[in-house]
Amino acid sequence: MDFSVKAGALGNPDTGCVVVGIYEKRVLTRAAAALDEQGGGAISHVLKSGDHKGKPGETLLLHALPGIAAERVLLVGCGKEAEEIGTADYRKALTGACNALKGTGAKSAVFALTDLAVTGRDSALKVRDAALALGNALYLYEETKSEKSAQEDRPPLKKVAYVLDEEEVASGKRGLAEARALLAGLELTKRLANLPGNICTPSYLADQAKKLGHAHDTLDVTIVEEKEMEKLGMGALLSVAKGSRQPPRLIVVEYRGGKKKQKPVVLVGKGLTFDAGGISLKPAAAMDEMKYDMSGGAAVLGVMKALAELKLPINVTGVVPASENLPDGAANKPGDVVTSMSGQTIEILNTDAEGRLILCDALTYSRRFEPEVVVDIATLTGACVVALGKPASGLLGNDQTLVNALLSAGERSGDRAWQLPLWEEYQDQLKSPFADMANVGGREGGTITAACFLSRYTKDLKWAHLDIAATAWDSGANKGATGRPLPLLMQYLIDRAGERG
Ligand code: BES
Ligand code: MN
Ligand code: ZN
Repeated sequence: MDFSVKAGALGNPDTGCVVVGIYEKRVLTRAAAALDEQGGGAISHVLKSGDHKGKPGETLLLHALPGIAAERVLLVGCGKEAEEIGTADYRKALTGACNALKGTGAKSAVFALTDLAVTGRDSALKVRDAALALGNALYLYEETKSEKSAQEDRPPLKKVAYVLDEEEVASGKRGLAEARALLAGLELTKRLANLPGNICTPSYLADQAKKLGHAHDTLDVTIVEEKEMEKLGMGALLSVAKGSRQPPRLIVVEYRGGKKKQKPVVLVGKGLTFDAGGISLKPAAAMDEMKYDMSGGAAVLGVMKALAELKLPINVTGVVPASENLPDGAANKPGDVVTSMSGQTIEILNTDAEGRLILCDALTYSRRFEPEVVVDIATLTGACVVALGKPASGLLGNDQTLVNALLSAGERSGDRAWQLPLWEEYQDQLKSPFADMANVGGREGGTITAACFLSRYTKDLKWAHLDIAATAWDSGANKGATGRPLPLLMQYLIDRAGERG
């Protein structure tokens, strides 16, 4: 997509589709009013007919209006008239507009929604939101279909310009650069997460990371294989992989955009390419969704790609432990005790709590990068789906400054997280009579005890954990990977890079 900024008044653009906002009660936004004037009141006339109520995200497509140069006019509801519209209404308007636009034959569009004032959003963010909404609406997964959709059935849209005031142009361009990088990252994250487990294996993930390294000279990729894992003593990660015919991989991607001596942000993403539960087998219903259990790893790889595209002045290292979790004669059994790379022993009471087993060794491994901060990202607990649902990823950590920065990055990017407590009291649930800790802490506070487990591997590190079990993918009609929490992570890194000058 060719994204650009259109400076100054909307005027009467010669384009495939001009997109303007309408408030409730037939009130025109500034851009809609200007266009209406060009068209001799044609838009007001349509509104009088009652065909468009201005509800957030509601759309009406009009063709060949007299006096208007654009082939189409798309009216988009923006909710109640106000000095500033809320971010929720703004996003609904964008989603509605992009879905409607995608169904048209327009090859180009001019988007005037970005000239509205939106609470808490500067022009960079407004334009970025708009471009991301379009990228998301146009995203299509068909890699594993034998028949790809025909060219003539695909939206022909190639060029979109966003309307901004003259003095906002520089900021708008920055927003577009960020959007392009985020979309490149999201494309990779979603693609990897949507691929089935028989294709997207640990070795496949590792190969994809190597490809990424070849494509960008700012990315260095190292793959740790089984032999070396054994030498390193990664007994927890190896114990999970034993139950599978696919060998595990530990993927390391280093991005160096900052000063040589600057300590990196380390991102650790769970790369469990299929989670059947192991001997503690999961029920059959919806088990296919466990192909998404590598979404944390996919988000980390997507972030590395987006960083390389955006050339942020910051150092970031991505670490992805990748394995399958299957039942097998060699698989972990309830009651087994394994020794993690840190030396701490773990009694595996439930083989389905495997994410923390692969993450704990990856977290210990991360120490060699002398991280400034460590953030792990994992589809870790069903309990988090119950606690928070889709609106927010679970967030826990041992450093409130880091947690606050992630919370605010979530708020700004619209990819939100919500903090849960990591109080000492919860640690008792992990006591084991046979090892230093058990790998599960019972039904109560499942997301928290999972984080408690990880906290034992991140002492004296500044660490936070994102549980993305609910947010990484959608089920039902919109089934598929969401790409979350890539927007949150990228916002955090953009903010950090900005702070450093
Ligand atoms: N990958 C799952 C968590 C999960 C469940 C993600 C549902 C998305 C949707 C994880 O490995 C798991 O199985 N966790 C167990 C932990 C339990 C045994 C303590 C769970 O949540 O049931
Ligand atoms: Mn599991
Ligand atoms: Zn899992």
